[in-house]
Amino acid sequence: MQPALSSLKLEDIRTTNDAMSRCLRLAAVASQSDVPVVLLGETGTGKTLLAHAIHNSSLRSGRAFVSFNASAMSDTLLESQLFGHERGAFTGAQQTVKGKFELAHGGTLFLDEISEMSSLAQVKILRALEYGEFERLGSERMLTCDVRIICAANCSLRERVAQGKFREDLFHRLNGLTLLIPPLRERVEELPALIAAELKASAAREGKKITAIHPEAMATLLAHDWRGNLRELSHIVRTMALLCDGEVILPENVLFSPDLPSSNAGERKGEHRSPSWRYLRLREPGFLALRRACASHSFRLRPDEP
Ligand SMILES: Nc1ncnc2c1ncn2[C@@H]1O[C@H](COP(=O)(O)OP(=O)(O)O)[C@@H](O)[C@H]1O
Ligand SMILES: [Mg+2]
Repeated sequence: MQPALSSLKLEDIRTTNDAMSRCLRLAAVASQSDVPVVLLGETGTGKTLLAHAIHNSSLRSGRAFVSFNASAMSDTLLESQLFGHERGAFTGAQQTVKGKFELAHGGTLFLDEISEMSSLAQVKILRALEYGEFERLGSERMLTCDVRIICAANCSLRERVAQGKFREDLFHRLNGLTLLIPPLRERVEELPALIAAELKASAAREGKKITAIHPEAMATLLAHDWRGNLRELSHIVRTMALLCDGEVILPENVLFSPDLPSSNAGERKGEHRSPSWRYLRLREPGFLALRRACASHSFRLRPDEP
């Protein structure tokens, strides 16, 4: 099982996928300096996890890691959240509160979902980063900000700049090293190991003894498009363990969330892999690698294997 986020290091994240290895190598380079890092990846690909790992592997590891999700913040609360406020700075400000920049001093400030930031947030953050100082609301005392910035986005920031939705000056301020985290459907060779690891943890949590995954169940999992990436994988596998009655995960234990028919279901249909794809894979040479991956987590791919 993976260590908690607060102690997770880069070497705890393992991969056999080339694109992910490249990403982790860059993360290791980034961790050894204060260069701003942009983590780009679909939801659930591990951006938050990687941000923590970079911080914990950096020279700032003993200092604070502070997250700020700009998309969830209203403009009225924004400044006080970012820079803090003095007691009495506004109605209801009953005590002095430190903001994210101050809390992150000496450590890392993680700006999540940065593409959704309001224009006011963009201006305020840019100003603090450009001048290296800021003041609490209701105070004139300048505080220095020594923070390492890591940000995350699930869409192209360049595109947001081109659309006029993201400031170009802020983009260049943040865009030191960009790490592209590949989606899970492009890391199919890793699925068995990830599934097995998650299943082991889930089985332990449920107090169950689960020793194998039926090949048809595995085939269904391998053929899924994993739009929710590792977050979805973790939920599906937990449900599998919960539904499993014996020692073997059966095809009917694999449940993807049902949904109401969508008006654009026709368009999305083409995105799904045909059933022949999944059965093909099991006959390909990759099957051996998949079986080894399962075995290394003490799961058999077939219940009848020794
Ligand atoms: N390499 C990985 N191995 C195992 N689990 C992972 C990995 N990366 C992410 N996860 C898990 O997937 C879930 C989503 O990760 P998170 O970092 O929150 O994604 P994001 O921030 O990109 O939406 C979390 O529960 C996390 O622990
Ligand atoms: Mg996240």
